[in-house]
Amino acid sequence: MIEIEHLHKKFGSNQVLKGIDLEIEKGGIFAVLGPNGSGKTTLIKSILGMVIPDSGIIKLDGKKVKGQWKYRNEINYLPQIANFPGNLKVKELINMIKDLRSGTNAEDQHLIELFRLQPFLDKKLSNLSGGTKQKVNLVLTFMFDSPLIILDEPTTGLDPISHLRLKDLILTEKAKGKTILITSHIMSFVEEMADEIVFLLEGKIYFKGSINELKTKTQQPDFEHAIANILTTSDA
Ligand SMILES: Nc1ncnc2c1ncn2[C@@H]1O[C@H](COP(=O)(O)OP(=O)(O)OP(=O)(O)O)[C@@H](O)[C@H]1O
Ligand SMILES: [Mg+2]
Repeated sequence: MIEIEHLHKKFGSNQVLKGIDLEIEKGGIFAVLGPNGSGKTTLIKSILGMVIPDSGIIKLDGKKVKGQWKYRNEINYLPQIANFPGNLKVKELINMIKDLRSGTNAEDQHLIELFRLQPFLDKKLSNLSGGTKQKVNLVLTFMFDSPLIILDEPTTGLDPISHLRLKDLILTEKAKGKTILITSHIMSFVEEMADEIVFLLEGKIYFKGSINELKTKTQQPDFEHAIANILTTSDA
């Protein structure tokens, strides 16, 4: 589904991605891990065409994405930080995004109920709490039916019940055969959800495989220690 070859990106003198080669197969949950600033969001934005790489090739379903834009209609994307226009009401924003993607069915009602957002629909976005904003962010992401779902830190700010609902939502999408790419610093979430992980370190892919393979590679008994082992032995 996603093929990345020799991807390089620098911001000024900051070389963030130093030759990423990565293949993500169709179907399943893939977690992109790595310390703060390791380039996870940059990698995701490169796939979406929101960051233009210096060199390298990105293909989606065998087609190069460079210079293209239509392929984005096939991706649901949850940004790490959603900059919503504060003076809009929640329902106005949802309707605006639906209008922008007219022609596709939006399943917003079910999601509004799932995240208990009815009482907030007439509130302005600037007046919402962080967690409630994140729930709006999730509604906007999941309301369209796309084969690829990219979630940059989806659990941020969510209370335990919303966290459970999010996990159910992701698993429901996975059961439909979708490909779901997630970044998260919540190791328990990753361990529970991910079929495969990719660990970014110093601009390269340090590891790609299952959590069990990572435990074997690092000779650690559990996932958290396996990740800590990578970080301490690499001095990242
Ligand atoms: N638009 C930009 N202009 C300049 N530097 C940038 C820009 N976007 C990202 N960077 C830099 O690129 C590096 C990687 O940032 P990125 O946001 O991809 O990291 P991340 O792995 O997503 O981190 P986090 O875990 O904190 O979300 C950082 O050093 C960051 O400062
Ligand atoms: Mg990030």
